[in-house]
Formats: sequence, structure tokens, C-alpha cells
Amino acid sequence: MCGIIGFVGKDEQAAPILLDGLERMEYRGYDSAGIAVRSEAKGLQVRKAKGRLKVLSDLTQGGAELEGVLGIGHTRWATHGEPNDVNAHPHISENGQIALVHNGIIENYLELKEQLLKRGVKFTSDTDSEVVAQLLEFHYNECHNMLEAVGRCLRRIEGSYAFGIICSDYPNALIAARKDSPLILGYGESGNYIASDVTAIIKYTREVSYMDDGEIAVITSNSVDVFDDELTPVDKKRSVVDWDVSAAEKGGYAHFMFKEILEQPEAVRRTVSPRIKDGRVVLDDLDLTADYARGISRIYMIACGSAYHVAVVSKYNWERLLRRPVEVALASEFRYSDPLVDEHTLVIVISQSGETLDTMAAMREAKRRGGRTLAIVNVVGSSIAREADDVLYTWAGPEIAVATTKAYTTQLVLMDLVGLYLADLLDSVEQAEYKAILEEIQLLPEKMDQLLEQVGDVQYFASRYFNHTSIFFIGRNLDYAIGLEGSLKLKEISYIHSEAYASGELKHGTISLIEPGTLVVALGTYAPLFDKAMSNVVEVKARGAEVLSITTESFRERMEKTADASVVVPDSHPVVQPSLGVIPLQLFAYYVALQKGCDIDKPRNLAKSVTVE
Ligand code: AGP
Repeated sequence: MCGIIGFVGKDEQAAPILLDGLERMEYRGYDSAGIAVRSEAKGLQVRKAKGRLKVLSDLTQGGAELEGVLGIGHTRWATHGEPNDVNAHPHISENGQIALVHNGIIENYLELKEQLLKRGVKFTSDTDSEVVAQLLEFHYNECHNMLEAVGRCLRRIEGSYAFGIICSDYPNALIAARKDSPLILGYGESGNYIASDVTAIIKYTREVSYMDDGEIAVITSNSVDVFDDELTPVDKKRSVVDWDVSAAEKGGYAHFMFKEILEQPEAVRRTVSPRIKDGRVVLDDLDLTADYARGISRIYMIACGSAYHVAVVSKYNWERLLRRPVEVALASEFRYSDPLVDEHTLVIVISQSGETLDTMAAMREAKRRGGRTLAIVNVVGSSIAREADDVLYTWAGPEIAVATTKAYTTQLVLMDLVGLYLADLLDSVEQAEYKAILEEIQLLPEKMDQLLEQVGDVQYFASRYFNHTSIFFIGRNLDYAIGLEGSLKLKEISYIHSEAYASGELKHGTISLIEPGTLVVALGTYAPLFDKAMSNVVEVKARGAEVLSITTESFRERMEKTADASVVVPDSHPVVQPSLGVIPLQLFAYYVALQKGCDIDKPRNLAKSVTVE
């Protein structure tokens, strides 16, 4: 996903601020970067470079080589046009007057490009974004007013966008516009900002506004004016970001991912404690009534990637607690499946970033069909959070590593709380069970701390197994569900192929792939089916597999008799056990990737939030 930053200051130079902001957004994933700065003497100065941000920083002597108090910057995650210097943003209009950065996709760029080519416009790149820069110039030459030109331009383009725009005729104005791709306005002492996310500017200001779809902002060093798509002024609410800068920094750890794995106990504590009062789950920001709950005919859980794996765990748990059918769906499949949604359907949408386009589009489709949408989101004020009927935040704090860990476990535990809350409304769970689960949820941070003391064991196993080229994760029920997450974690950051399998299903085909030396990570933490899980471990051992097991204290002895190696997690209630069982899998992926020298926080081809479909 691309990253955008813009600054317009009173007298502070823009270039160093732009580079610093881009560096704080590196975690979003990118393949090239660029900045444009306007100065009286030199007009628009543009520098772009393929590769890591350091290349751009060296090219501009850390920004010192560019003068001016107005500028825009961009990290590009290629969609149209290969990663190279020419396709990098900012894109410049033909006469060199307008510079633009873009996050999103212009669906009708070819049609617009054709029209502009017919008018003799010359293009330099293969990107959809450059078309907007040229179209802007066309309309600006028509009306000689940048705000009007932007309005005309937006009415002609289709697709998703967050734009940062500067024009050499406007020495003190930065223009921004957004539709579907997030864009934040920042109000600072020495000037004002735009950014794709708060991490880019929190060092300079905590006071922000979140742009809404169709809005255009004109930002100067001492004013921020926002307009709707008819250019009618809009009053924007300001929010104060309450997490501190260090939360978005590595704090001495080698990788954000490792830091965030270790932050899980605190993240779970922050997510849970405000929602349990006098032994009951209280979800103040949720106004679901018992009548509404009783009227629910179907529950959908929709998400992508790891968030989808949270849904798979929650399906098992909610059906157990609510005795109602729960369907899980990949967002990219749901939206095109003509889903059975009506006013009696509760649609849970899970997303760390709150900006995943597939998930956003699926939520909109569910709303269009009359469903009631509840979003489980980590980023406050994100698009999904603001469009859902209800939103519950996981208070995990900013998650910088592309591979999610603390957001995943806080989503798990928040879904457990919501499941208990609904079960209580439906009177579908015994009070003793309710109490037992809630107690275990409250003990999670302490048990996670205890578990994280075993980091060394997992590191040892990773050093034994990191050379494998194909690894299986097997388990039953909730163990299968966390196996999905363990497999994705490993693939994402170590680039080793792996597959999660319901272990009872192995014998129906895939077991043919098990041969002497095949590494199988066997999950044995789901107590009700431990015996079954054990028989599947014996099955793969009989075919020569090497078995690394994840099990609980209760089953340690039995598992260690058969598995070649074991990581043991504290016992918990079956509903809550996945939040513990997944942690060794996160650590295993981390240490294998570390052994392989992979770029753990910024894995190849991946972005922290995929805002394209
Ligand atoms: C997980 O480690 C990946 N980064 C990816 O699968 C992610 O979970 C998925 O893209 C969904 O992102 P979201 O939670 O921000 O919507």
C-alpha cells in the first residue's frame, strides 16, 4: 500500500520532514519513493528513486539539497507500471507546474489517457496516477483555479484515491482529496500536514482530522479548509491521537514484529479490561439489544488474511456459545457471491488497518443488502471503522510489522468477549461456563507473559528446522484454525511454502506428501479432541515425518512420548486456548525468517494494508 505525506510550513524546510514521514511509513511496503518541493527560486523540484528510502535520502542529502516550505512525498507499492524511477511518484504535469502523489487505483485511467493523448499530451510513465496529473493541468489551464480544477478532475475519474497536490502557482497551498484510500489532515505548530496514516506525522502533531470520501482540502501553513464534492465548505472534527511516538518505534528491538509479539499481554489487557465490569462483559459502544439478538437469523464473519483466520476461530467459539449458525467468508469471495444477507443478518467485519479494500467493499455489499455491520478494527478513525453501523476497537496500539501478531490476538479476545455478550443476550450459555471463560480471558495476559519466557525453546527449534522447504501445520477444530495462522505467518515472512490441514482430513489425500523428514507442526492444544490429534501425529510419524508439537501442560507427557519436539503452553478454557496456542507459531515463523535473513518487518511483495483489489 502506498504512503503519502505532505507539509506546508511557515519557514521550516519541507524536504527533511517529508523524508522522515516516509521513513515512518516504510512498514506499509513499497518499491520506490519520491518527493517534490516548491521554492520561489527553483519552482517545483522533484526527486524520485527506485528501491529503499535510503537511496532517495542519499540523492537529496537527507533533504538538504531541496529548498522550500511546501512539499509532498510518496512511497509507492506498484499496481500499474513496474517499479522504477519514472513510475515512482510524484508525477508531474507536462508543463511542469503540477506535482501529484496518489494512493489507490484509477479504474478508468486508460480511457482518460486516450482522451489526453488525442489532445497531444505527452506521458512519461506507465502509471494510472500520471493521468490525473495531466488531467489536472488540462482543467487548470481551462479555469485557472486549482480548487475548481481539482473538483472537475475528480468528477471525471473513477476508482480509489488519496491525492496530495502542489502547483508552482500556489506558493503556500497544499491540496488533498480522498475517496476509499485513507488521508489524514495534521494541524501543527510550524505548519500543517497530510498523511496516509498517523505514524508519519505523530512526531510533529497529535491533532488530526480524518478526510471523508469526496472531500477536498486546501491546506496552508496557518489554515486548513475542507470542501465536499460540490466545493461546499465542510467543518471537520479534530481528534487527538493518544498513543505515544515510542509505540510506533522499534524501541531497541531488532524488528517491530518481535516487539509486537512481546506486546501482546499488554495489548490484550488494554483490549479486555475496559470491557469487563463486576464479572460481566460490558460493551458500552455497542447497542445490540436482546430483541435484536433473538431476531438474528444468520451471522457472517468477513475478513482477509489473518483477520479471516480470527473469523475461523470465532466461528467455532460463537456456534458453541450462541447455538446459532455462523458463516465465515473471505471478503474477496463474499462480495461476488450474491450473499444471503438481509435485515436479520449480523455481519462481523474484522480488520486491523480498517482500510483493506476487499473487506471495505464486502462490508458495503452487506450493508446494501440490509445487514447490520459490526466492525472489529485496530486503527481508530479508519474507513471501515467509520462506515460500519457499530465498531469495537482492539486497543493493540499501532501495529507496524506487516505480519500481524498483537492485532490478531486482540481480535481473537475481543471476538470472545462479543460472543459471550451475545450469548448472554440470548441466554444460550450456562452462567458457570460464562464465568469460567471470562476468568480465563482475564488471566490471558499473565499466561501470555509466562509463555513468552519460552522464547528460547522456539528459537532453538527454528534453528533446527529453518532449512525445510515445505512444512505442514495440522490440527483439529480450534487447533486447525490456529494452524491456518501459523502457516500464513511462516509463508509471509520466511517465504517457505507451508500448508495448514485439518488433521482428520490428511488421510483423504494429502498424507501422500508426507515422507521421511517432512516437518509437521502438530497442534494439540484443543483438549476435547486431543486423543484424535494424537492419532494423527502417530499417522504422520509412521510415514517418517519429523513432528514439532504445540500442546498444553495437561498433555505435555503424552505428547512428548511421540513428538520429536514440543512447545508447551499454559492450559486455558478451550474457547480462550487459541490466544495462547498461536504465540509459539508466531515466534516460530519469526525465528525461521531470522535464520534465513529475511526482511521480517517488510516482506517482499506484501503491504501492511492492501487498499487495492
Ligand atoms: C497478516 O499477517 C497479513 N499482514 C495479512 O494477511 C492481513 O491480515 C490482511 O491483509 C488483512 O489486513 P487487515 O486486518 O488490515 O484488514
